[in-house]
Amino acid sequence: MKLRYFGHSAFELVTQAGTRILIDPFLDDNPLSPVKSSELTADYIIVTHAHGDHLGDTAKIATTASTVICVPELAGYLQKQGLNTHAMQIGGAFDFDFGKVKLCKAEHGSLTPDGKYAGLAAGVILIIEDKTIYHAGDTGIFGDMKLIAELHPIDYFLVPIGGNYTMDIPDAALAASWIRPKLAIPMHYNTFPLIAVNPEDFITATQKYGVSSRIMKPGEIIKL
Ligand code: NI
Ligand code: MN
Repeated sequence: MKLRYFGHSAFELVTQAGTRILIDPFLDDNPLSPVKSSELTADYIIVTHAHGDHLGDTAKIATTASTVICVPELAGYLQKQGLNTHAMQIGGAFDFDFGKVKLCKAEHGSLTPDGKYAGLAAGVILIIEDKTIYHAGDTGIFGDMKLIAELHPIDYFLVPIGGNYTMDIPDAALAASWIRPKLAIPMHYNTFPLIAVNPEDFITATQKYGVSSRIMKPGEIIKL
């Protein structure tokens, strides 16, 4: 399976079978993304919460063949726009044709760009081809990340580090020390001045905990 990063919290997974999964596809207004929404198709779009920098271009990319996976309140909002949705609650998991998806807690809010409350913000755990990926969404640090790691040994931890709206680097490095992934990948930084950080500081901070981490450049693809 391949993982592509678009900057901010936007990723694409392409499975060996060719299923295309987008997570938080914020592209057209994302100053870091080298890719625009018109260049992408998706079988599934996972949206962690309704903020514009996560919901992003979901409505532009989703076709009749796409399914948007999110919490029920956001799913209801997207259904009214004619999108196909699969609603899940935090703590619930479902076996899709490509693998398992489980929503988990995130300490954050969720409001649509037009100001509608959209339920709880979530993180997402994906188990595909024997690899486990935890995209933490937007979140502050919380102790139950230890429980998440106990329930699901994590291979790849996609973790916000930019501060202000989410964990900063010290908090994200501590979270990585609890999760103990094979690889931590920082996200949600340097998109806007409010979340400007040096991601190399995250690499150094995780090394101190004995956790491997790696910066993905926007547009970069890695094999998982
Ligand atoms: Ni947010
Ligand atoms: Mn955000």
